[in-house]
Amino acid sequence: MMQVVPMQFKHLDDVAKIESESNIIAWSKNKLLNDFYKPYSFYFVALKNNFVCGYSSMYCKRDAHITNIIVAEKFRRIGIGSLLLQNLIDIAMQKKFDCLTLEVKISNIIAQHLYTKFGFKPIHFKKNFYLDTNEDAIVMQKYF
Ligand SMILES: CC(C)(COP(=O)(O)OP(=O)(O)OC[C@H]1O[C@@H](n2cnc3c(N)ncnc32)[C@H](O)[C@@H]1OP(=O)(O)O)[C@@H](O)C(=O)NCCC(=O)NCCS
Repeated sequence: MMQVVPMQFKHLDDVAKIESESNIIAWSKNKLLNDFYKPYSFYFVALKNNFVCGYSSMYCKRDAHITNIIVAEKFRRIGIGSLLLQNLIDIAMQKKFDCLTLEVKISNIIAQHLYTKFGFKPIHFKKNFYLDTNEDAIVMQKYF
């Protein structure tokens, strides 16, 4: 059974593993933990029969902003990214934000497909936003 639930401390090792396998400059366990405990930070995990196969995170400050969505490689393309994204959209709407934003690498066409499918539109670019590749970011936004 697949479900998306708020992340708990016990999920940290699994989330850090997914992070390290998916990012060139991955967040360490300590950095993740520090971010997880920020009052405006919301983390969720996708569980398949209690196994952590993806995670998502979002900041809810003045704006609602997606900070990450990652699905472990062998669980991709079966709808988990969509579940994680829909959950963040639902949470932002419940919290009465009128829109949700995110940054995505220009080269990350797969993630752009996902976001476009859910109604996100490109609004502007951030030059040299990513430290690992120096790539520009596309800022995408969805209004509810
Ligand atoms: C982006 C990511 C989260 C998608 O997760 P996923 O569980 O595979 O996504 P889903 O199965 O829910 O697919 C949803 C949509 O994403 C797009 N998509 C997913 N994989 C794709 C692929 N290989 N090629 C093209 N589009 C793809 C499609 O639009 C798909 O809809 P469709 O199945 O109707 O075509 C996943 O590829 C991932 O973790 N990538 C690495 C981390 C990353 O780039 N995160 C985003 C940072 S901004």
